[in-house]
Amino acid sequence: MKIGVIGTGYVGLTTGICLAELGNKVCCVDKKKRKIEDLKKGKIPIYEPGLKELLDKNKSRVSFTTDTKKCVESAEVIYIAVGTPAKPTGEADITQIEEVSRDIAGVLNDYKVIVEKSTVPVKTGEWVKRTIKLNVPQEVDFDVVSNPEFLREGSAIDDFLHPDRILLGVESKRAKNIMMELYKPLNAPFVITDIKSAEIIKHAANSFLALKISYINAIANICELVNADVISVAEGMGYDKRIGRQFLDAGIGYGGSCFPKDVSAFIKITEEFGYDFELLKIVEKINREQRKNFIRKIKKSLWILKNKTICVLGLSFKPNTDDIREAPSIDIIEALLKEGAHIKAYDPAAVARTREIFKEIDYKDNPYDAASESDALLILTEWDEFKNLDLKKIKEVMHQPIIVDGRNIFDPKKMAEMGFTYASIGR
Ligand code: UGA
Repeated sequence: MKIGVIGTGYVGLTTGICLAELGNKVCCVDKKKRKIEDLKKGKIPIYEPGLKELLDKNKSRVSFTTDTKKCVESAEVIYIAVGTPAKPTGEADITQIEEVSRDIAGVLNDYKVIVEKSTVPVKTGEWVKRTIKLNVPQEVDFDVVSNPEFLREGSAIDDFLHPDRILLGVESKRAKNIMMELYKPLNAPFVITDIKSAEIIKHAANSFLALKISYINAIANICELVNADVISVAEGMGYDKRIGRQFLDAGIGYGGSCFPKDVSAFIKITEEFGYDFELLKIVEKINREQRKNFIRKIKKSLWILKNKTICVLGLSFKPNTDDIREAPSIDIIEALLKEGAHIKAYDPAAVARTREIFKEIDYKDNPYDAASESDALLILTEWDEFKNLDLKKIKEVMHQPIIVDGRNIFDPKKMAEMGFTYASIGR
């Protein structure tokens, strides 16, 4: 099939390249000229394992352009995958969705399926349809489909190619058949709903996962009060198939470009329709508090932070990405700098992006140089590289052997045996 993808962010780019892998001819469009120039040269603007290799493999089937018209005219299915960032008030800013809908309408020449791939508030599909109808120069048939994406950064390709389900919010049989044909090679179960339900499913799923994380973080705080172990508690809960072990890792809270934005957007959109989603407000509160708790933990270990050298290992919001959007590291580093601490930091992928925010940090090329002469070491992201650290060497190079682990990657007993003062979450 001929596919157009508008927007080359995480979702758009992965979708485009993976659809090419399935044998389709894909045209990806973005307004950012430099990005498109880079993509034409095979340069991927994000850190996503395997994406460059997959693009190289499928380069005969993927093209990049800044020309929406060119892309839309030839495509049978057009994906809208532009950003829906949070406004300062928390609601989703869907300006780009509206703009793209008008752009599509202006060049709509034939029946096409317009797919809402970006995460959007419920009823956006209705607006997209209305906007296109109002702006088409001549009468032309089209369908809007909601097809939310459930891929995670860091494992985007695998998530796209091996999804738990494919969600299609549709209004017509014609659009449903085209979309089912397109995704047939993935051999995954289809969930077919109306458009609004599909939009809600995406917000509800991300919010539920965020809720799971805040729930286990609340349990971690209780564990700390009574000297219990949150990892054992999560394991004991997780064996119950109705609960499941995934997303029960206590830590310094969720970050990234999805959960924080989607939870607040869901609260806002439901408020607009007259529902006060108090439950999700508490989810957000626990998430914010978890970062503050971590700062308290550091203070408990170090007492005064002023003029102390603190080593930060991990800057990205989770492993296998260079993304630092809403990363707990940002709030934590900001608080430490405010208290007058000196920071040395290392991350396998996210240093360049963090440098744009914090110029005053001493960035190092490896964890040992970052730990050298430091008064405490913080684990903020659970990269595999940190799980395999030579802790003997770390202890030797540190000024004092204090580790505050925000991701529970080490065994407290072993750390104590090695002579570390070790604090973690909920243990
Ligand atoms: C999330 C969802 O998992 C995807 O299904 C969805 O498609 C995506 O948002 C999206 O809406 O685009 P992502 O943000 O890439 O994916 O990352 P996750 O792996 O879900 O992690 C989110 C945050 O939760 C990270 O900060 C992670 O450290 C934290 N987390 C996750 C925990 O603190 N504990 C856990 O047990 C799991």
